[in-house]
Amino acid sequence: MSAKSADGERVGSRRIVVAIGGGIAAYKSATLVSRLVQQGDDCSVVLTRAGQEFVGSATFAALCNRAPVVSPFDDRYPMGPHIELADGCDLLVIAPATARILASCAHGLADDLLATLYLSVTCPVLMAPAMSASMWEKPSVQRNVMQLRSDGVHMVGPGEGWLSCRQKGTGRMAEADEILIEANNLLRNLG
Ligand SMILES: Cc1cc2nc3c(=O)[nH]c(=O)nc-3n(C[C@H](O)[C@H](O)[C@H](O)COP(=O)(O)O)c2cc1C
Repeated sequence: MSAKSADGERVGSRRIVVAIGGGIAAYKSATLVSRLVQQGDDCSVVLTRAGQEFVGSATFAALCNRAPVVSPFDDRYPMGPHIELADGCDLLVIAPATARILASCAHGLADDLLATLYLSVTCPVLMAPAMSASMWEKPSVQRNVMQLRSDGVHMVGPGEGWLSCRQKGTGRMAEADEILIEANNLLRNLG
């Protein structure tokens, strides 16, 4: 099946993994997944343990017609979901990318399914960080972001505005449509 994205790109049968970390902004990722599916992409979802506290598996199972992957041990993937999801993946989107995810990926830890998947993929990776302004401004977080950028990871956001900790500042996750535009830009470059 093929379709046209909002900016007129021909899309369809591209394999995208959307990984969702444990932050309030996880609810926006349901819209992102819905948009990707609507434009014809084959979308799989990985939910971290903390991610499951914020958004339910049933939402993503319905949106993708496939239950999200929540464990590094999943009978659907006998070789391991980190291997099978990475195989043929065109884009890994991590949204929200928590401070913990940034740290794990920047340091090459394989301490959960998502961090192991990050190490396994050979496709472009797009991260949408989200956290409180004080977390975002911490030198350690900024070092991890710099490391990831220099490793070739693409970043979208965070923006400035209202944060769920009831303060204004930088740390707000990019909106679903901004992430979609960046994802489509990266996918366009794949040809
Ligand atoms: C209500 C609530 C909101 C949170 N929001 C964020 C957030 O936006 N960004 C972040 O980095 N951590 C946030 N955390 C902390 C993470 O959930 C925590 O660090 C967790 O270990 C992250 O796990 P994950 O990276 O595997 O998803 C929040 C925690 C709570 C209880």
